[in-house]
Amino acid sequence: MSDTKEKLDVIEKAKELSLEYTKKAADMPAFPSDEAIAGLENLDGPTPKEGTAAVDVLDMLNEYAAPANVGTTTGRYFGFVTGNMLPAALGASWLMNAWNQNGAMFIGSPSAAKLESVAEKWIVDILGLPEGTAMGAVTGSTNAILCALTTARDYLLKKQGYDIHVKGFRGAPKVRLVMSEEIHAAVKESLSVVGFGSEEAELVPCDELGRIIPGEMPKLDKTCLVLVQAGNVNGGSFDPIGEVCDIAHKAGAWVHVDGAFGLWAAASPKQRDNVPGLEKADSWSCDAHKTLNSGYDCGLVFCRDRKAIADALTAGAPYLEFSDKRDGMLYTTEMSRRAYGVVLWSIVKSLGADGIAKMVDDMCDNTQYFGEELEKAGITVVLPPSFNQLMIKFGSDEETNAVLAAIQRSGTIWCGPSKWRGEAVIRISVSSYSTTKEDVDTAVEVIKRIADGISK
Ligand SMILES: Cc1ncc(COP(=O)(O)O)c(C=O)c1O
Repeated sequence: MSDTKEKLDVIEKAKELSLEYTKKAADMPAFPSDEAIAGLENLDGPTPKEGTAAVDVLDMLNEYAAPANVGTTTGRYFGFVTGNMLPAALGASWLMNAWNQNGAMFIGSPSAAKLESVAEKWIVDILGLPEGTAMGAVTGSTNAILCALTTARDYLLKKQGYDIHVKGFRGAPKVRLVMSEEIHAAVKESLSVVGFGSEEAELVPCDELGRIIPGEMPKLDKTCLVLVQAGNVNGGSFDPIGEVCDIAHKAGAWVHVDGAFGLWAAASPKQRDNVPGLEKADSWSCDAHKTLNSGYDCGLVFCRDRKAIADALTAGAPYLEFSDKRDGMLYTTEMSRRAYGVVLWSIVKSLGADGIAKMVDDMCDNTQYFGEELEKAGITVVLPPSFNQLMIKFGSDEETNAVLAAIQRSGTIWCGPSKWRGEAVIRISVSSYSTTKEDVDTAVEVIKRIADGISK
């Protein structure tokens, strides 16, 4: 009983502090002050020998950690592609934590299993992927890519009569790796985990927007794993996925699409033109915690061949009892895992397909508006804004970096660095459902003021 009392007290405390935080969140700095960061030292110290009441622990978090938070819940944070957290996602996460369900198997949690299987059906439908496509929910895109690449590798080797699960990767026949020269670092990391070296990759040149040029692909065969992307991490451009799939499939190759934030273009009738032929690929990966604003953490892997992904990722043991319903662990590298379906189901139920499309459209419209206003202010927009991404630069790398440093210190908005074709750029992503045109106006004003001050 005392356990229940402590939990009730803690829920009340967390509710009180969350309400307080959320009421102020719209006005909080985009990046914490040096003073707030210094305050984090209050959370350090020798290993505590004695415990502290859980409610007091929450008070400490509120006092010292919260002021050093980054303003991802404002509409003025344009760093990385961080996303905000939708109301339904926040509420469902609270419940999910109170429920403490294990999403591994139906037998471990029928509710988690059902919600995940319905979320799979709805999201596959919303993204226009082939009916019956399997979806696995994991921590993020890097892990989702890992799941897809493991599946592709195993499948391509099996077609050559080689079972890597039995024989191992030493002595395995070759799997050729054909990928965009612009492929994201997360894909490269996952490739090394599944046994590929960077020198093995056959890199395909890209056009001026960073899109793979299909005509430049080497001659493919049935040993090829082809990697393309929906949403270049810098400029937001989309590879011509359908065209690549047509060529690859004639040769019997496997195509994976990394669409960490850009796959959600498929959810909007207005943005779907960015991804013609998306449904032709063999596997896809994306984040719910980016464009879908699910909050952390949630990455998704999709595979058109349900058996192939389950064969690659299933761990079997006598104590594991699979069902004829949903056993989420079959489609991931994990066993015990969060009940991701609780949040995913709640988002789709709360916004509906139309609401998700509108959220994506709003981000894209705000990005276009951002680009137009920056250009009106005389600032160089490096490429035409695409989806929710744009890049700006100033007279020299030094000037660009100086403007960026001042933006990051401003506390009003936050943007990150990158490089495009060897030059320093400031990378701007509009990935919060709560960003408004007024937030964009504020951002343009801050950037212009800083740039004018620096170029004087
Ligand atoms: C195109 C692309 N792929 C993969 C990733 C990795 O995603 P995550 O950080 O969720 O692992 C990112 C992250 O920014 C990305 O933009």
